[in-house]
Amino acid sequence: MIPCQRHLFDIPDDVAYLNCAYMSPLMKPALEAGTAGLARKAHPWEITPDKFFTGSEEFRATAAQLVDCSADDIAIVSSASYGIATAARNLPVKKGQSILVLEEQFPSNYYCWQRRAEETGASLKVVAWLENNDWTAAVLEALTADVAIAALPHVQWTSGGRLDLVRVGEACRKLGAALVLDLTQSLGALPFVARDVQPDFAVAASYKWLLGPYSVGLLYVAPKWQSGRPLEENWIQRANARDFSSLILYTENYDAGARRFDMGERANFALLPAAVRAMKQLLEWDVAQVSETAGALNRRLAEAAAEIGFSAPAEPLRAPHYLALRRKTAIPRELPEMLAREKVFVSIRGSSIRVAPHVYNTVEDCDRLIACLRRIA
Ligand SMILES: Cc1ncc(COP(=O)(O)O)c(C=O)c1O
Repeated sequence: MIPCQRHLFDIPDDVAYLNCAYMSPLMKPALEAGTAGLARKAHPWEITPDKFFTGSEEFRATAAQLVDCSADDIAIVSSASYGIATAARNLPVKKGQSILVLEEQFPSNYYCWQRRAEETGASLKVVAWLENNDWTAAVLEALTADVAIAALPHVQWTSGGRLDLVRVGEACRKLGAALVLDLTQSLGALPFVARDVQPDFAVAASYKWLLGPYSVGLLYVAPKWQSGRPLEENWIQRANARDFSSLILYTENYDAGARRFDMGERANFALLPAAVRAMKQLLEWDVAQVSETAGALNRRLAEAAAEIGFSAPAEPLRAPHYLALRRKTAIPRELPEMLAREKVFVSIRGSSIRVAPHVYNTVEDCDRLIACLRRIA
């Protein structure tokens, strides 16, 4: 268990921020790194050409440690949807085949596949949310010979349900189906090992559980797809990019590994240092410990909420860091505003109250939420 790390964040004592699944607070050292990075632009003469590469490579190497892969397998992207679109552009699917998604899947990992299915004559196959909350069993059953691509999360975002991705990965490989993952609601808070899961593509936006800034993320690309086609054709993805004076000696060749999939202007001098600093902190804490720490707070919350009529999927079917509380009677839509007046912050997603604590939260934060819920029970 990690002792409370609130001192690293700028969270006033009277704020119970239990909403990391919406957006994490930027920790002070990451804010400092980002501010210093932004300030560099005031002195552009100090931004030498090598700086376009050093920050990006540091991002790649740090992200690779979190995902447990080679730095060559990481591309720098703007968003989850950018990563999903990259996967969709490169993975084959044809008429009569299907693309597997979950019920209530996040739109950034849905619309793109809906479009791809329309364009190819494939169909979308939607895995239903079962009463028993066993998403893994439901996915394994739905993985039949027609599935060309399984586009899934590690944690289903409205239920907190966790998929056993090692088993799903094995089943996909047996079928010859591609596996595309959106790890935005899990990476940084739930251990993930690319070498074990062996996805084809896996993306995570940085601004939630990676504790990073908005508008940057990482994309894992399996070596077999690294000669694919990027969404953009920009100068810095090409093999000759390091030699600024020769950029107009156009080349067919790309830089090594997944770098060809980097977004334009990927060498973002403000965002990357902040994202890297946050990922380094997560590595220092150890993601398994983050999971354990957030999980203990959620267990306390789940038990207290059960006494006032709320239920949630039980662990291990639920991810420890992610609690979606439901009850028989409807939850008032204005609940987040009511709670915000008490300086307690959560989200409503689907028909659940989504509670997402992190290492900056205290037991008192959890008890304040329960006290508020008691009033509406
Ligand atoms: C599961 C999931 N994926 C992705 C995102 C963000 O998507 P994008 O980076 O495309 O804005 C969110 C944001 O709430 C999310 O919950």
